[in-house]
Amino acid sequence: MSNIRETPIPTVTLNNGVQIPQLGFGVFQVPAEETQRIVEDALEAGYRHIDTAAAYRNESGVGAAIAASGIPREEIFVTTKLRNGEQGAALEAFRSSRKALGVDYVDLYLIHWPVPSQGLYTAAWKVMEKLYAGDEVRAIGVSNFLSEHLDTLLQASDIVPAVNQIEIHPTFQQRDLAARSRSLGIAVEAYSPLGQGADLGAAAVQSLAARHGGTPAQVVLAWHLAQGTIVIPKSADGARMRENLGAAALSLTPAEVGEITALEAGARAGADPAVAAHSQL
Ligand SMILES: NC(=O)c1ccc[n+]([C@@H]2O[C@H](COP(=O)([O-])OP(=O)(O)OC[C@H]3O[C@@H](n4cnc5c(N)ncnc54)[C@H](OP(=O)(O)O)[C@@H]3O)[C@@H](O)[C@H]2O)c1
Repeated sequence: MSNIRETPIPTVTLNNGVQIPQLGFGVFQVPAEETQRIVEDALEAGYRHIDTAAAYRNESGVGAAIAASGIPREEIFVTTKLRNGEQGAALEAFRSSRKALGVDYVDLYLIHWPVPSQGLYTAAWKVMEKLYAGDEVRAIGVSNFLSEHLDTLLQASDIVPAVNQIEIHPTFQQRDLAARSRSLGIAVEAYSPLGQGADLGAAAVQSLAARHGGTPAQVVLAWHLAQGTIVIPKSADGARMRENLGAAALSLTPAEVGEITALEAGARAGADPAVAAHSQL
């Protein structure tokens, strides 16, 4: 494999023309007090796309790292998300996130979960459409939206979400939902792309890693990248965050992509969006 630093991270063009680095860095479960240091490490390693959320309670650490890095703001793509409990106050929630991040604009703002039992996501989207008309956000999208939630949203709105961020990894691929999202012009972003580490021991992953002189995590991330999916692996460890960035240098043949695709096992790691309410988020 070629040197990590020599391999540029590909970008995906969203449905409004905005470009997003295809390989980003997630900060779910990164403790608030460690976030600045870890995100500074990630930026130093070469990441230029950070995925946070109001619910992760670490937006201010992300913002502090961006400010301390000295990297021009426009070179870093920042995503944050609307908390479930604030779908009825989306404008205030957005402003609070933007303030915590210490930025003039957010690159991508997502509805974190549909929470269908609340019946508020369409109203929240209307507010996000108004925000999008201003200059505080470059793209708006959704997360954890199933086909039925996309249908409801699209019937009631003018703007097609730029992104649907959903759980995808080799043992839980949601292929129908990913295909449906793409057919609507919505880019697919994989969260828990490594299956929270659980998919790395699969024999097919291990043998492809040996064949390519890479690591299991690089093989899994390369499998996502080969399908045009945006990925946001999380690692609190400097060596592993660099290792994950190295996935951009590993290319799998279509047959090798198929070997990983064959690992589908319906093994959801997170919550089911049809019923998840997550009041704590
Ligand atoms: N929208 C949503 O509802 C939602 C839900 C979940 C996640 N997300 C986003 O997606 C991001 C990633 O998802 P995730 O954190 O759930 O899972 P993940 O990225 O699939 O896996 C993270 C786990 O894998 C380990 N790991 C990372 N790189 C590794 C490597 N190279 N080798 C071995 N182990 C490795 C990490 O441990 P170490 O930290 O010790 O390296 C951590 O335990 C989150 O941070 C968040 O931004 C969004």
